[in-house]
Amino acid sequence: NSSSSTTTPPHPLSTVSITGLKANSSNSATPPRPLSTVSITGLADSIQFTSLQPNNRILDQYASQPVHTITLRQLVFFGRNLSEERLIQSGNYVRTELPIRLAHRIRDFQNLPFIVGTNPHIEMVYGLYWSAFEKLRQFPKINTMEDNDAFCATVKELLKEHLVVIPQLAMGMNECSDHIPEKQINLFMNKMLLSRLSRRVLAEQQIALTENWHDPGYCEGITNDGYIGVVSTRCNARDIVTEVAKMTRKHFQNKYRIVPPDVLLDGEQDITFTYIPEHIEYILYELLKNSIRGIIEKHAPASLISDNTTSIPKSFSFPPILVTICSSPTDIHFRVSDQGGGIPDEIYSHIWSFSSSHKFSDGKKNGYKFVNFEKVPKMAGTVEEQEGARIPPLLHLGIGLPLSKVYTEYWGGALKIMTMDGYGTDAYIRIAKLGNREENLL
Ligand code: COI
Repeated sequence: NSSSSTTTPPHPLSTVSITGLKANSSNSATPPRPLSTVSITGLADSIQFTSLQPNNRILDQYASQPVHTITLRQLVFFGRNLSEERLIQSGNYVRTELPIRLAHRIRDFQNLPFIVGTNPHIEMVYGLYWSAFEKLRQFPKINTMEDNDAFCATVKELLKEHLVVIPQLAMGMNECSDHIPEKQINLFMNKMLLSRLSRRVLAEQQIALTENWHDPGYCEGITNDGYIGVVSTRCNARDIVTEVAKMTRKHFQNKYRIVPPDVLLDGEQDITFTYIPEHIEYILYELLKNSIRGIIEKHAPASLISDNTTSIPKSFSFPPILVTICSSPTDIHFRVSDQGGGIPDEIYSHIWSFSSSHKFSDGKKNGYKFVNFEKVPKMAGTVEEQEGARIPPLLHLGIGLPLSKVYTEYWGGALKIMTMDGYGTDAYIRIAKLGNREENLL
């Protein structure tokens, strides 16, 4: 399984070609500790470093390669004209591109301050990245559909294994927030999460195209419900908002036994466009959750909502949330407007921050809040409903807003929040609708 990737697969989605790298299976041992490359002088670390140096040399080969970005439109055009040959071609693109993208981020881990690299959560993610890097770079070249199936199975496993990454990173950074400036945490997390999102899009697209190809009912490169891989060609703005509003309201109704504020739609609602719907669902879910929580906290007495034993949800006269939709030549715009009391200045200046030090006013370290999630959009679910005992099961990470910004900006969109402290908040989402913007990886 070693010297497989010796040829240079053409980039299937653009004219750029990928430089082939010789796979080398001889150095797949434990990764060097994040910080052991240069800065450690202790004997034990030196020994470990020496024995693992070849690993870092291979990493260098990959980390020095540029990332080959794609556009949504390339994903669509490529998937629309699918053939076995093209599926194999895109499989090889994903196989060679994922280790390059992982190598860049492994380097970022190695550049963190030493103390951060020793945090168990950070070390855990670092280990996962190394292991994925090794598996992917050593995966033999895909020549047949069977090879591609085997590759998809490997990638599927990795996707599952990496479900723990976001909470682990968030917990690690929370614990290290005294040792690393907020600005550095934010840059690190933004790069990590954009890159992670991008790798998952490439991986999930290859898996979805392959599954479609094997589906006997699949014809002409598009599913009956308009999907090309994970991309929907029939995203409808009104339907997405309606569905997410239903889920979010249900979550609060079950949690507090109250009738949550209504979500009203306004503007040009019947807009259809091509996008990965889960990305918009995640953003809207986070924004509506914040709006509803704000409205409940401002307009319902805490004593009443804490009594959640009644079977019939209590009604309050909550002001509704207004979601306005419109379309410009290049973008779809959503505005989520609430009367939830707004955001105080001292919090507003940190709303995009991944650093948790300011988030817990009780001053407790590691003061994660716990909430109960029922049905949530798949994206939010994979972020917040994590499996395994290493993570508190009902952990609320407090990174919903900065993570929503990552989702918005990935395909060249934007997320802005305007607030009137004491009254309410307006969130503006801009989604690029032409699919012609390159992935934004910072
Ligand atoms: C991730 O989820 O972080 C990944 O990198 C997934 C990829 C290895 C398939």
